[in-house]
Parts: sequence; structure tokens; C-alpha cells
Amino acid sequence: MTWKTSNKPGKIEKFYWHCKSSAFAMKPECQFMEPGDFYSEEEILHYSNSNAIKKMQEKLTLQAIELLNSNTNSFFLDLGCGNGFSTQVLEELGFKVKGIEIMPGFVELAKQKTLDVQQGDFTKKLPFKENQFDYLISISALQWAFCQKNETQIKKLAGLIACEFSRILKENGKACIQFYPDSEKQLNAIIDGFTKNFFVKTTILNPQNARKRKIFLLLSKQAFAE
Ligand SMILES: C[S@@+](CC[C@H](N)C(=O)[O-])C[C@H]1O[C@@H](n2cnc3c(N)ncnc32)[C@H](O)[C@@H]1O
Repeated sequence: MTWKTSNKPGKIEKFYWHCKSSAFAMKPECQFMEPGDFYSEEEILHYSNSNAIKKMQEKLTLQAIELLNSNTNSFFLDLGCGNGFSTQVLEELGFKVKGIEIMPGFVELAKQKTLDVQQGDFTKKLPFKENQFDYLISISALQWAFCQKNETQIKKLAGLIACEFSRILKENGKACIQFYPDSEKQLNAIIDGFTKNFFVKTTILNPQNARKRKIFLLLSKQAFAE
């Protein structure tokens, strides 16, 4: 495994992206404007019944938890939680966890697993109190918010999302976001938006391999120790 980390916004170097492939173009976020345009009832069931997807979501969730270096008894919010693959990992590790998900069909399936999940949109005002969570986690969901937007729109939206994330996080809170930006330019615009409210550390797993590349943003309300 290769990890590259940078805590300097705007410094994600070009070579990380030199092999940008058509892999991203195949992703639904590139073909559909909204999650609701893609996640039909059938697609929700296909996603929820796929063992390969479950395993990948569990693996990414464990990697995000490792980056957060979280304390036991912490309170997590899982944003874009789908049917709760990631939420369940957190719950099984003994964390208190809530989930928020835009698609009612996924919310229903998560509730059937007795997970504490509610319907909501993470690009809007979040239905939670100030300083409620120790950690936020979001696995493979955030790219939906930024597809098909220009740089100015991306920075503005990332700023608004960061503002809400910061509001619901405790003073020493952190967020870990794994997602699939479609270009280096888009990634840097998102980081720019987030730096209004957070110190940002970027971790890239398999930076040279477009298919296997995984990007995690670690957001902290307090400066990272050097
Ligand atoms: C890959 S899926 C689910 C990933 C989840 N970590 C899991 O364990 O299955 C990404 C999810 O993000 C949700 N999503 C996309 N945009 C959203 C938004 N603005 N607010 C809430 N959920 C959103 C989608 O509906 C979808 O269920």
C-alpha cells in the first residue's frame, strides 16, 4: 500500500493524476445529476445485496476510522450512509452512530437493520444540534455534490458544507471523507472550500493507479500536531 499525505491545500501534485482514466467517467455521479436519478428501487436492492460493495465499503470505513484515530465511546455521524454498510462497521466497533441519507429506499433498508438513520441532504442545513458529534465520516458519497459544477460553484458549496460540518462537530472534532473527485482541479477547489472552517490533511492511497486510487480528506477544527 502506498500512502501520500499532504496538509498543504492546493498542493496535490500533478503526477498523482497523470493516469486519469475513463474509470471515473463510468461512475454514476458523472452520468446522473442527482442520486435520485440513479438509485431506482432496483439499483438500491442491487447495491444492498452486493457482497463486493459491502466489503469495499467496510474496508474504506476501517481505513477512515484509522485516520481519525478515534477514541472509544465517541459519537459519529455517517453522511451519505446508504443502507448502512459503513454505519454498521462503526456500530459493531462500539461507537454511537447516526446516519443521514438522501434516498428514502436506503433509509428504509438501514432502519430494517435497526440502524439509527434518517433521511436528509448533507449539502443542506443538517438536522442536528451544535457540537453534537465527535466525528463525521463519509464514504464514497461526497462526489455526488460536486459533479457537473464549475470551480466557483464547487468552492462555494464546499464552504457551505464545511460550515455545517463545523457547526455540528465538537470543538476538538474531526471529519474523514473518502470520495472520488473527478480531477485534481476539482479536488483542490473542494479542499479550498473546506479550509475556511478546517485544517485539511489529504491522504491518497495508491496515488499512481487511477482504478485503485482512494482519496481521504481529514478535516480538523484544531491544527494538526506536526
Ligand atoms: C456509495 S453510496 C453509500 C455509501 C455508504 N458509505 C455505504 O456504506 O453503503 C453513496 C450514498 O450517498 C448518498 N448521497 C448522495 N448525495 C447525498 C446527499 N446530498 N445527502 C445525503 N446522501 C447523499 C447516495 O444516495 C448513496 O446512498
